[in-house]
Amino acid sequence: MNKKSNNFYITTPIYYVNDKPHIGHAYTTVMADVFARYYRKIKGENNVFFLTGTDEHGNKVANSAKAHNLSPQEFANNISNEYKKVWKKLDISYDEFFRTTDPSHEKIVQDYLQQLYDKGFIYKAKYKGLYCVGCENFFLSDEIINNTCAYHPNTLLVEQEEENYFFKLKDFSVFVLNEINKQTYEILPTERKNEILGKINNGVNDISISRSGVSWGIQLPWDKSQTVYVWIDALLNYYSATKIYSEKEKFWPPSLHLMAKDILWFHSLVWEGLLLANKIELPKVIFAHGFFTINGQKISKTLGNVIDPLVLVNEYGSDAVRYLLISSFSFGNDGDISLEKFKEKYNSDLANGIGNLIARIAKLCETLDFNNTNIPVNNFSSDIVKHMSQYRPDEAIKSVWRRIADFNRIIGKDKPWKLEKNKLKEKLNLYIKKILSIAFDMEPFLPKTSEVIQKIFSQEKIKKPDSIFPRK
Ligand code: MSP
Repeated sequence: MNKKSNNFYITTPIYYVNDKPHIGHAYTTVMADVFARYYRKIKGENNVFFLTGTDEHGNKVANSAKAHNLSPQEFANNISNEYKKVWKKLDISYDEFFRTTDPSHEKIVQDYLQQLYDKGFIYKAKYKGLYCVGCENFFLSDEIINNTCAYHPNTLLVEQEEENYFFKLKDFSVFVLNEINKQTYEILPTERKNEILGKINNGVNDISISRSGVSWGIQLPWDKSQTVYVWIDALLNYYSATKIYSEKEKFWPPSLHLMAKDILWFHSLVWEGLLLANKIELPKVIFAHGFFTINGQKISKTLGNVIDPLVLVNEYGSDAVRYLLISSFSFGNDGDISLEKFKEKYNSDLANGIGNLIARIAKLCETLDFNNTNIPVNNFSSDIVKHMSQYRPDEAIKSVWRRIADFNRIIGKDKPWKLEKNKLKEKLNLYIKKILSIAFDMEPFLPKTSEVIQKIFSQEKIKKPDSIFPRK
């Protein structure tokens, strides 16, 4: 494999289709889109592969389908279409949308596991434990609060005892630890990496890779009475995708797996164990961002605080929602979202900030009947490059907004409308250069606004546009 490859392969988790997407899913996907758009500019359109999709097997999905009187496949079709609809509304530029019910994936999973079985890395054993169907995962006693896991306070754990097939994760955890220490692949942010290291050092159990009581899943090739554990099926999507879609093989290994901290363990140990066992090169970076609450509470259907991204997009527009999500809290830490704060931020940063700036400059140009000869800028400013290379899209967008605020202040100080014609022309040229640079820097974050600004300020005769972000 070519280490110096110019390719960038970025993934989001594939989301469960038990329910429609909410703002938490939108957050990760928007962030992944920012990276994909950024690297397309840096590395070229064809050197980026941005993958997202849906995780469709398992009891969590089967139970929801049943509650809606639909077959799991019909239900999965409906919800995965919902995901596609929302991503379109948010201008998510994914290259492929993965579905684990794709028959080509099912075959790849079966072959993959058969290979591990033939190599002796899989064995049969009895397992008894407390299971959270929300997480599709077993929990140990020290992780349990009031008979629930930390992420699903309304889903009681159930005791399950089954005879399953197990993967020798314990054996491979030593090799994974070694790779982490060698920094062959990175877990970020560092606090998360330390948590994972601590957990591995505390001892790792082998992991069950099949279920006997779950019919909605991929059959194990050597024992048709069992289906593949939904997490194993799901993790392999990242690998399958490079085999299923044409000309994607060159993208292995993944450059960046994005997710929240809830599923880091699967991504930073289980996934690597499965890859090492089949001698496949490990991903480069696993980045787990924080988990956010809404007005201090967990996002939950029972609490009725689920925010539908479509409702927000209809209210504010896609770029505004992207902006609010990206800039609301630091990437990597937990945070809280409130619709009131959203509105405040919309008015101050978008309507008054960038909206006002565009209107002021365009109006000056229009009044002067200015002859514009500027052409769009074609590279990112050093601040953007620095923050993006440090996995801080939130800081990158903040640096753009600091420039916008400074710019608005400078115009107030310059009082260009008082300048004589030639001096004003000089100023406007400077302003336009600056705003075109801001527009270029904005593209990964607010693609529509970026395009609009570039259009306005590349015209020979600049006209004041209709308000881009009307006050709310
Ligand atoms: N299907 C698994 C993932 C398999 S990937 C091989 C799964 N799906 S999920 O639908 O539950 O999505 C979990 C992910 O959604 C989180 O890791 C995160 O990316 C995103 N989020 C869901 N709720 C969120 C918050 N409240 N805050 C931040 N991110 C959130 O797990």
